Amino acid sequence: MERIQVDLGARSYPIMIAEQVLRQPELFRPYVDGKRLLIVSNDVVAPLYLSTLEHSLEQAGAQVDSLVLADGEQHKTMESLNAIFTHLLEANFGRDTLLVALGGGVIGDMVGFAAACYQRGVPFLQVPTTLLSQVDSSVGGKTAINHPLAKNMIGAFHQPQAVFIDTQALSTLPSREFAAGMAEVIKYGIIWDRPFFDWLVESKDKLQSLDPQALAYAIRRCCEIKADVVAEDETERGVRALLNLGHTFGHAIEADQGYGVWLHGEAVAAGTVMASKLAYKRNQMSESELQQVIDIHADYQLPIDPPAEMTLERFLVPMQRDKKVMAGKLRFVIPIHIGQAELVADVTQQELASLIDSQG
Ligand SMILES: NC(=O)c1ccc[n+]([C@@H]2O[C@H](COP(=O)([O-])OP(=O)(O)OC[C@H]3O[C@@H](n4cnc5c(N)ncnc54)[C@H](O)[C@@H]3O)[C@@H](O)[C@H]2O)c1
Ligand SMILES: [Zn+2]
Repeated sequence: MERIQVDLGARSYPIMIAEQVLRQPELFRPYVDGKRLLIVSNDVVAPLYLSTLEHSLEQAGAQVDSLVLADGEQHKTMESLNAIFTHLLEANFGRDTLLVALGGGVIGDMVGFAAACYQRGVPFLQVPTTLLSQVDSSVGGKTAINHPLAKNMIGAFHQPQAVFIDTQALSTLPSREFAAGMAEVIKYGIIWDRPFFDWLVESKDKLQSLDPQALAYAIRRCCEIKADVVAEDETERGVRALLNLGHTFGHAIEADQGYGVWLHGEAVAAGTVMASKLAYKRNQMSESELQQVIDIHADYQLPIDPPAEMTLERFLVPMQRDKKVMAGKLRFVIPIHIGQAELVADVTQQELASLIDSQG
């Protein structure tokens, strides 16, 4: 078992990573013994893992109730949030409520936000079951739902009490979702850790065949990096912004194409390659490093180009609406080297035009 601590003073918490976490009541006991809790999952994940988790939590001394919502980003809404509140109120859950999120990032974000709001805040546990949620969304305390006008705009910072990562859950994940999660894994290598990037290049076959040790190592390293970054900058005023490498371009692709057409990680992959090309054009990254960034994404079956029909205008419209816009200025994270990135605020429209026009 791998254990990582996220250091946030009184709000510190552990991340536990192992092959069979869901089947280990002893790991859960310190958090759930004697508690009344509600597991929230969705109708894809629940048939696979809910009964195993319910059983473990009961073994660990909890009184367990469950709620299964409809699967999908389109259900990360006020309606689903309200369904959680209705269930809690109807079943008379009080201030001592504990929520447990079982699923990918959609469930994790939504249950985290429900926990932040219910009776002005109750604790919650993350049990992430997608690669993306295991390496990214379950750690760091950002919670949210979508509004019809924009994604993730309604939310709160609310840290979980613990994160339980079961690498075996990835065995049922569709390969396209696995690849999308790998885009975030690769991102950590590019912004923070050159040796990890090199290890990812070497370990492609092991990771893609879900070798448990390789998976546990990759997930641990990502969680360590995220934990370090979040401990330094919990509310994203500084270094945490580097985690958005590829995301300004990526969010524009997702929004332009219609949510769900490109998976988030796929859009981040194309966006990371674009950010690296931008760095290269500004003489801030070498050609050989740019090529390595392109190659690793291709190796992990990820897109390296945005949709051919996306013009500069089609990038700019969603980018202006992006949360990362501050005082009307577009800000981009660009890699300087593999293992090091910086936030730049002086990218001109001409630079973007030459980047995007040269795609076709
Ligand atoms: N809070 C953060 O810091 C943060 C960071 C990144 C992304 N996010 C959010 O995370 C969401 C994306 O998360 P995601 O990629 O996990 O998507 P998701 O939660 O929609 O999961 C993807 C699909 O896989 C299914 N699934 C989950 N686990 C499975 C398993 N073990 N086996 C088979 N199928 C499984 C899901 O039901 C869903 O159909 C977005 O809403 C995004 O905004 C949040
Ligand atoms: Zn992301």
